[in-house]
Order: sequence, then C-alpha cells, then structure tokens
Amino acid sequence: MQNKTLIGFIGAGNMGYALIKGLINSGYPSENIKASDANEELLQKRNEEFGINVYIDNAELLKACDVIVLAVKPQVLNEVCTGLRDSIKPNHLVISIVAGIRANDINRWLGGEFALVRSMPNTPALMQQGITGMFANKLVNDEQKTIVTTILSTVGQCFWVKEEKLIDAITAISGSGPAYFFLLMQSMTQAAIALGLDKEAASALSVQTSYGASMMAVKSEEDPQTLRRNVTSPNGTTQAAIESFQDQNFEGIVATATRAAYDKAHEISIELGEKE
Ligand SMILES: NC(=O)c1ccc[n+]([C@@H]2O[C@H](COP(=O)([O-])OP(=O)(O)OC[C@H]3O[C@@H](n4cnc5c(N)ncnc54)[C@H](OP(=O)(O)O)[C@@H]3O)[C@@H](O)[C@H]2O)c1
Repeated sequence: MQNKTLIGFIGAGNMGYALIKGLINSGYPSENIKASDANEELLQKRNEEFGINVYIDNAELLKACDVIVLAVKPQVLNEVCTGLRDSIKPNHLVISIVAGIRANDINRWLGGEFALVRSMPNTPALMQQGITGMFANKLVNDEQKTIVTTILSTVGQCFWVKEEKLIDAITAISGSGPAYFFLLMQSMTQAAIALGLDKEAASALSVQTSYGASMMAVKSEEDPQTLRRNVTSPNGTTQAAIESFQDQNFEGIVATATRAAYDKAHEISIELGEKE
C-alpha cells in the first residue's frame, strides 16, 4: 500500500482508536488518516492526540477518503451505511470491523455492490499485539487485499479466511477473547487474596504470570498442551490444580462460552440484517 492511500474511520471509539494508533505508530502519515464520529468531544481528542482531520459528517469523511473503515456498533451500522449511499463511489474500498453484520447486508445498506472486507480485530491492537481475521467479498481485488493486510497488520497479525461464517468463529475466539483472559486474571487475583496475599501482589502475580505464559506460548516451538505438561510434575501442586479444573469440566466450560459468543454473532446478523 502506498502511504498516500487516504484512510477514513467511521467511529473513533475503542477499536477505531486502536487502529489509528497502530497506523500512526507504524509510520503511516497522519495527514492521510481521517475519522468521523457522532461524539464531537471524542473527535477533538483524536485530533489533538494524532493530528488527524476529523469530521462530524460521515459522508464528508467518505468523500475525502479511498478506504473507509466501519468501526461503529452493530446497532447503528444500518443508519451509518444508509447515510453514505449518496456519496459512495464504485472505487471505494470498505472494511468493516463490526461484529455479526454480513457483507451482503452492509452492501445492501450502502445501496450497491462494493468491494468489501469483513474483519475481526481485537483490543490488543492497542498494543500492536492484536490478531485479525479477514474475509473479502468477490469484488475485492489482490491490490485491495494488500491494502487491507497492510492496514490491519499495523496492529498485529492478520490472516484471510475463505468463508464468511468463519468471521463469527474468530469473533468468538479472539474478538471477545481478551475479556476471557481478563476474567481468568481477575479470578486468580481474587484467589490469591483469599490465600492471604495483598491486592497489589495478587494482581501482579496473576497478570505477570499470564503475560509470561503467553510469551512462552508465542515464542516456544512447543504447543500449549506440551508446555503445560512440562510444568506439571506428577502428584505436584500444578497437577492438583489442573485436576480440579478438569473435574469441573474446564474444557467444556470454555467450549460452551465460545459457542455462546458465536451464536450471539449469528443472532446479531439475523436480528439486524436480512433474514437468511
Ligand atoms: N471492542 C472490541 O473488543 C471489539 C473487537 C473487535 C471488533 N469490535 C467491533 O468494533 C466496533 C466498534 O466497537 P468499539 O468497542 O470501538 O465501540 P465504541 O468504543 O462504542 O466506538 C464506536 C464509536 O462510534 C460512534 N458512533 C455512534 N453512532 C455513530 C454514527 N452514526 N456515526 C459515526 N459514529 C458513530 C460512537 O459514539 P457514541 O459513543 O456517542 O455513540 C463511538 O464513539 C463494534 O461493531 C464491534 O463489534 C470490537
């Protein structure tokens, strides 16, 4: 992607912010990044932090950009897209990071057949440690795919999937996933406090352990199952805890929870999009 591609974010909240920050940190020129949002105060903050041009009118932003990133909540996407109908041109490339809403519904709301990528990043994008799954509709060409990969890889790893429904699976695993790990950290902190540690030490132990274990899983050539086995001595303390987790069907709990997130993404697509 050339650094002169004009990228506009509709929605400059958590995820819009993470992606803008990632682009800027990776050296993308701030004059080629723009954002619009319903919240004027927020726009002002983004302008002050990044020096990007901001717009209260989404259609004005669209007119000033080549690539548009839809980063609003699913519930307002229909209204946002409908508002772009009169300004969108066939050469615009649309990237949606919105959970659940299908590419066909977005194009129907936009009023035509546009090159559209559905993607699912996650909040570690803020630290440039995200992971994003991407699906392209049939109008997206190779050059446009490269543009999307370049934008989304500024905030972490990214990969393409061939089937759109896999975006819902990615939503359930990595899109919502950071919250699962925060919940585990929170639970471990509470458990540490119950075992007599003070709050500060309890929190440091659970957060740093999570960070260290993730780092090992990322850097090691061994898979998580092997890494776990390596630290589980027979009849030791770790084995006692792992057996307790497994007696309470830990894997089943995780499978049920991620299925609930997957079903919810599907439900959103039915509720807010066209019935299948
Ligand atoms: N957060 C995650 O972990 C995550 C991960 C992957 C994907 N996503 C997807 O990313 C999207 C954005 O999530 P988020 O967490 O960034 O939400 P967010 O923080 O609420 O940001 C959305 C922004 O859009 C603004 N907005 C509302 N209506 C608008 C309109 N008509 N035109 C322009 N801007 C409008 C909101 O303003 P107001 O607050 O004033 O309404 C808000 O500032 C969601 O669709 C979500 O599914 C989120």
